[in-house]
Amino acid sequence: MKLICVSDEHEIGLETARLIASVVRLKPEAVLGLATGSSPIGAYAELARMCAEENLDFSDVRTVNLDEYVGLDGSHPQSYRYFMHKYLFDKVNIDPKNTYVPDGFAEDPDEECDLYDELLESLGYADLQLLGIGVNGHIGFNEPADFFIPETHVVKIAESTIDANQRFFDTRDEVPRYAITIGIKGILCAERIVLIASGRKKAEALKAACFGPVTPKMPASILQVHPNVTVIADDEAFSLVPFFGHDEEAY
Ligand code: GLP
Repeated sequence: MKLICVSDEHEIGLETARLIASVVRLKPEAVLGLATGSSPIGAYAELARMCAEENLDFSDVRTVNLDEYVGLDGSHPQSYRYFMHKYLFDKVNIDPKNTYVPDGFAEDPDEECDLYDELLESLGYADLQLLGIGVNGHIGFNEPADFFIPETHVVKIAESTIDANQRFFDTRDEVPRYAITIGIKGILCAERIVLIASGRKKAEALKAACFGPVTPKMPASILQVHPNVTVIADDEAFSLVPFFGHDEEAY
């Protein structure tokens, strides 16, 4: 793992966008694995700026998103499809036909999962997979569990994740209880993975993900087995990591 410590969220956005842009410039038809949540918003804003001002061209880029809430269709303001249009797809010259997000409103969510895995395989998986991390260490919606699930699957969202994501909804009851998420295989098959995190609330999860045992109880820890992972985080998120923080005694 390559760890990059930057000063704040803004710098995370700039650094992440630079990496994504370099992939797109080298391979204009790249497949980008994309994430939602507050962490990637700065990177998407910077990519939109690069598209407008620096000729970064998304016309042949394909994107595959990690996950979607079950029960929300793409026009729901809290759906991840809506999020992606708001923060990226509507701001760059990407062809909407080349953007894939699991359909949370599919009549048969299990069938949708199978179709999504077929899609990932047909695209050859992501050239770069962007990931946030949940406070409980989830990636996509791969929640802490007794085993890693390789395939795209329907998952019951953890109570701690419902608490964390409640801020986007009017009430806790409105937060969907299930999601469709790419599984661990879909993530690990990416050529390159970029994990981003900011703030003290991510510090425990980030330390465990980078330096703890590889266990499905801490889903992000599986990234330790991938040969090309870059973690970009701020001082606060890295505050429990020995090189950057003050927790040397733990190691
Ligand atoms: C959500 C998403 C994840 C995201 C995580 C962290 O539940 N399913 O893909 O990485 O939460 O979100 P944030 O960046 O808002 O902290």
